Amino acid sequence: MREHGVLSRVLLVYDESARRLESTEDMPMDVLTSAAGLLRRFIEDYHEKLEEEHLFPRFMQAGKLVELVSVLRSQHEEGRRLTDEVRRLATSKEVDRGRLVTVLRQFVRMYRPHEAREDTVLFPAFRSIVSKDEYEALGEAFEDREHALFGEHGFEDAVADVARMEQALGIHDLAMFTPR
Ligand SMILES: [Fe+2]
Ligand SMILES: [Fe+2]
Repeated sequence: MREHGVLSRVLLVYDESARRLESTEDMPMDVLTSAAGLLRRFIEDYHEKLEEEHLFPRFMQAGKLVELVSVLRSQHEEGRRLTDEVRRLATSKEVDRGRLVTVLRQFVRMYRPHEAREDTVLFPAFRSIVSKDEYEALGEAFEDREHALFGEHGFEDAVADVARMEQALGIHDLAMFTPR
């Protein structure tokens, strides 16, 4: 599930966008449109669909982590709603900066713990409810889906896409995050 790394980088783009919008600094809106577009395409319509179709039902059948799965599922729904709103706000004639900041912050606040919980609780538990063969078969099915949807370089293209957004916002240099 290397898609979470792409998601984390979009959250960073959202963070910086919210900071700029709050400080009345210049904010290139096309970056936000691209970020929300990448979320829709690569996370919501692909990564989350895989979770919803292949992971969540197996937990429900096994009667394991049922409550967690139900929260994760409802957060996917809420995330899609927020993404719709970001797209609408970012492309409107008179941008409502205050509302956009609120929506971006809500998205980041929800998805940081969401993906962390999947990485540390859901995904490790998944190995214990499916056989090794089934686990490997699913991995291959996921990769086939990625190639069918995005071509051979789906992941690499998504990374290049988010790197361009970071560049446009001046947050691409990793060393800038090291305390001095
Ligand atoms: Fe998820
Ligand atoms: Fe996920």
